[in-house]
Amino acid sequence: MNDSTPDHDGVRFRTPTVADGAAVWRLVTESGVLDPNSSYLYLLLCKDFAETCVIAEVAGRVVGFVTGYRPPSRPGSVFLWQVGVDASMRGHGLGKRLVSAFLQSPGAAGADTLETTISPSNTASRGLFGAIARDIGAEMQVGPGFTQADFPPEGDHEDEELYRIGPLQADRIKQLTL
Ligand SMILES: CC(C)(COP(=O)(O)OP(=O)(O)OC[C@H]1O[C@@H](n2cnc3c(N)ncnc32)[C@H](O)[C@@H]1OP(=O)(O)O)[C@@H](O)C(=O)NCCC(=O)NCCS
Repeated sequence: MNDSTPDHDGVRFRTPTVADGAAVWRLVTESGVLDPNSSYLYLLLCKDFAETCVIAEVAGRVVGFVTGYRPPSRPGSVFLWQVGVDASMRGHGLGKRLVSAFLQSPGAAGADTLETTISPSNTASRGLFGAIARDIGAEMQVGPGFTQADFPPEGDHEDEELYRIGPLQADRIKQLTL
């Protein structure tokens, strides 16, 4: 990830700081798709999990983000928790470039498997991760993650299926940004 120079189209990818937490929370809340979490959680992620999070900005405005972490019990995996792109910028490859930046982030070093969970109704997210697996020539396995019964009944949350994509190869991941 290049932390200082904007890409050819003015998008800059960088590691977040606490000052980004509010903008990430706003993108999540406005997405209408992502689970809205407390603003405090995004401050924690931008502070203590910054090495596995990415900000995309244009002229100082946050237009996309990825949050994730390294699961302590699966050291070979990097887990992508949420990815979001401003509605005005979707469909132009920014989601793929964000995931590429995430996989090249300092916190993802050495990981050979990308993990995430996706609800069956999230067509855009399934399209994004299917395209990433295809473009980097990796296998994509889909298995049980969290079921509807794991969530509190009053929330009416869908299943979250576990996607595992690998093996990750650095040269193929870099090509995603071209
Ligand atoms: C999911 C999301 C991040 C994708 O970002 P994006 O910038 O639009 O995605 P890209 O333009 O990089 O597209 C990547 C691939 O996904 C596919 N895709 C993107 N949106 C899609 C949609 N609505 N339906 C089907 N496929 C879709 C694209 O066709 C592309 O595949 P391709 O390389 O075969 O053409 C964006 O739609 C978003 O922010 N959605 C709301 C939040 C969300 O659902 N996040 C995921 C759950 S954590």
